Amino acid sequence: MADEEDQLFTVEDYEKQARKILPPACMLYYSSGRDRGWCLKESTEAFSRYRIRNRVLQGISHRSLSTTVLGEQIQYPIGIAPTAVHAAAHPDAEAETARGAAAADTLMVLSVDSHTAIADVSAAAPGGLRWMQTYLFKDRLLTQHIVREAERAGFKALVITVDSPVSGLDSKVRAALNKDAAIFAFRMSNFEADIPSSRAAKAEGDTRYVKYVHQMQYNDSATWEDIRWIKSITNLPIVCKGIVSADSAREAADAGVDGILVSAHGGRQSDVAPAPIDALAEVVDAVRGRGIEVYMDGGIRTGTDVFKALGRGARAVFVGRPILWGLACQGSKGVSSILEILRSELDNALAISGCTSPDCIPSDMVVHESEYHRNPPKSRMESGGRNPCFHFTAIVSLMVYLCFFVPLAFWSPCEDVVTPNELGKNGSHQQIEVCQEIKYGNVDHHTQKAHHWDQKGRVPYPITDLNYFYDDLPSGERAPGHIVRVNSPARTVSVLEPFDSGGCTNHHRATVDSTAKQDNCLVAVNAGFFNPRSGACYGNVVSNGRLVQTNGGLQNAHLGIRADGTLVFGYLSEENVLQTENPFIQLVGGVGWLLRDGEIYVEESKKAECGDTEEASSVDLFFNMLSARVAVGSDEKGRLVIAVIDGQTLKRGLSLLSFAKWLLSHGVTNAINFDGGGSATFVVNGTIVNHPSDPCHDITYRCPRQVSTIFCVHEPRCDPRDCNNHGDCIQGECRCHANWHGVSCDQLQCGDHNCSGQGICNRDGCRCDAGYLPPDCTRTCPSGWYGQDCSYHCDCGHGGSCDPVSGECACLPGYTGTICQETGESIASRIILNVGLVSGKHLLEDQLPVLLIIAVAVAIVSIFCNFISLCFRYSCTCTTVPCDNGYSVPRKHVHQKISTKQMDLFDEFKSST
Ligand SMILES: Cc1cc2nc3c(=O)[nH]c(=O)nc-3n(C[C@H](O)[C@H](O)[C@H](O)COP(=O)(O)O)c2cc1C
Repeated sequence: MADEEDQLFTVEDYEKQARKILPPACMLYYSSGRDRGWCLKESTEAFSRYRIRNRVLQGISHRSLSTTVLGEQIQYPIGIAPTAVHAAAHPDAEAETARGAAAADTLMVLSVDSHTAIADVSAAAPGGLRWMQTYLFKDRLLTQHIVREAERAGFKALVITVDSPVSGLDSKVRAALNKDAAIFAFRMSNFEADIPSSRAAKAEGDTRYVKYVHQMQYNDSATWEDIRWIKSITNLPIVCKGIVSADSAREAADAGVDGILVSAHGGRQSDVAPAPIDALAEVVDAVRGRGIEVYMDGGIRTGTDVFKALGRGARAVFVGRPILWGLACQGSKGVSSILEILRSELDNALAISGCTSPDCIPSDMVVHESEYHRNPPKSRMESGGRNPCFHFTAIVSLMVYLCFFVPLAFWSPCEDVVTPNELGKNGSHQQIEVCQEIKYGNVDHHTQKAHHWDQKGRVPYPITDLNYFYDDLPSGERAPGHIVRVNSPARTVSVLEPFDSGGCTNHHRATVDSTAKQDNCLVAVNAGFFNPRSGACYGNVVSNGRLVQTNGGLQNAHLGIRADGTLVFGYLSEENVLQTENPFIQLVGGVGWLLRDGEIYVEESKKAECGDTEEASSVDLFFNMLSARVAVGSDEKGRLVIAVIDGQTLKRGLSLLSFAKWLLSHGVTNAINFDGGGSATFVVNGTIVNHPSDPCHDITYRCPRQVSTIFCVHEPRCDPRDCNNHGDCIQGECRCHANWHGVSCDQLQCGDHNCSGQGICNRDGCRCDAGYLPPDCTRTCPSGWYGQDCSYHCDCGHGGSCDPVSGECACLPGYTGTICQETGESIASRIILNVGLVSGKHLLEDQLPVLLIIAVAVAIVSIFCNFISLCFRYSCTCTTVPCDNGYSVPRKHVHQKISTKQMDLFDEFKSST
């Protein structure tokens, strides 16, 4: 055995080993999938159809796998999925798994169908990070009981499994289980709740109890309302498990969940469900921008599987069966070993792919294999043989093109860019101060008050005024394109890094529409220049108040927005960029200052931006050639103006001078030229509306280019942007959720009484202390009920009343016991006792003879009565009640005593979890 253990290097090794150790019925139960097993098989195999497009030489020596899930830090994004019946793999069941998870420093989701009770799992591995899985039980009191137990035991979230309205019963598994029933002797601890339905089921014996568990679990009347209800009774975050479609994901988001676990229940509920890795991207897209974390489980067996899931948008993944195999082979050591194998394989995959952390895997790095099977560009034969002149012309054009342009040091015809970080190297920034027109003094940038918002802080709607145009210019050039004016730019415009925050640092590039999607941009356009080979962003970049990078004072023309809302155009020193008094909240660089305070400034800026190291001819070319163009500027009202002209480099479009004139004629007063040519991409509500000029793989079509930074026009943001998660940001104002107040929804107040000091105000109203009722916790429980939410029924017998908080019984005279069930002492003897205690002193001192006689008489009567009563009870009990019904053994051993029919019911339950 020791030798075999030494050979366990992969998850697959553990599976093989578990197969040798576990009884066949148990292995079948763990490993099986529903019906034909299609979904089970597909869940694993689908991973093989994704490819990782590595990026090499990325300097990835500083890697970290750590991330957060619902605000909790984990060392790597791999957790344990909830699975039932750990007792069949290890005698210590879920307690042992919890020890393994804690040793491996990761998150465990405990199944509600655990053998070990919630509190005992916590005690087994104190301090471990755990979430509690549950179903939406038929009896809400049972769900509430699980929620409270999880809260008490320090679990950090609830995972609600929503894919099991009925059981995923599988007859082949049932049959096998029936044959090997003893292995599945386990206890359903969490259903043993002190609530009426559970007590009643238990009182009726084990057959009924097993049925109860089954009936509770498969709740075919559950709806999204039940999710909303759970949210209303707890502050724990909610994760919805078992979603594989965009529609359900959106409904989950509408119901207010905090996370979605894309899962097909390990292929145990339906064999025609999609593989979760295939369904993942659809779910991620459906809830993008709604603040919901998306996770995935199903079929993960290697670190590259984990990487692929992360690359397709999962924040973390969970594993089910591999953990059971580890547990069966080596207990908690096996559990942590499985996690360690996956962790180190993930680290390796990360390094090979050229990434440094799970958060910065580029969105286009993990692709479906079908990407590689697209039709190649048409060959000569396929195209039906073009006119040979076409090829001749093409070759000649190419030669002319290469001969003419290649010698230009900084100009590459394929890239449409000059290398602006070379510009200004020899002090052209100063040169412009010295040589510019006198009226500008030595000020090398222009500041303009931006269009503002009204006195109540409201941005005038509509935010944008968007126009399409097709102008013929006097120069003979043609300008088809778009122009948009944006109100209150300080609150409605952001500079975004490619794809996501960190994009510049990681040299990412992304299409404008994919970056725009991240931030729900209404309108977006490409912005700064970049190095087309390394992907590095050029110039200074400040994005939403965050300084992304500076350029060390070597500047091209920039456009920025300062904290007070002013717009800044022109050349900035490092000092300007880093100014903290009124810092930049958005800043990005272009090449060419086209309009300065209502005047054309093209020639001046050409001089300023053409340092000695720059070939003048290449800058001339860049300024003079026809090309698609993008400029961002302002009009007289201080609105931001974005203009995009369609074109194709050297063939169609505008020179920068014509562009400047055109902008001026459209009321633009200041403008900076941004990246044009094949980069020019204009997106409205997620759709590209201009005509980018880069050829696609199939050269018949044109595709948007992957670029660096973008300008994003959006709804005004709130402060903080998420209204502290207690409100919705609508047109820049936080509309607070129920019971939250304040401009940023940071104050909780539940009605006038604010829970009357007998409860805690939370987002769903007062959560009253035990014994008190919502809405304001002033009312106590109605008679006969007690406890949290007055949901527990009093058991006090014989007219006794119960304490609304603790349920403790106050018995009527003559009754004792915790539920007033005992009538041991006769009333007479109590009277004697009381009389004796209270009046003893007087009896002795004053009226001894008279009272002595009464006492003796009462005592004689009392003894006589008790004697009669005892005789009567003895004879009744032994004659009318059967004494042994076979269930007197403790509950935890009951499974060994139950009949075959009852065993079937257990099996029915187990085979469907
Ligand atoms: C034996 C077994 C029992 C399971 N029990 C539960 C359960 O009680 N609750 C639940 O939500 N999912 C349950 N699942 C599904 C897992 O949480 C998870 O979705 C699935 O196992 C992931 O696939 P994998 O096993 O390929 O990693 C169970 C899965 C297995 C294999």
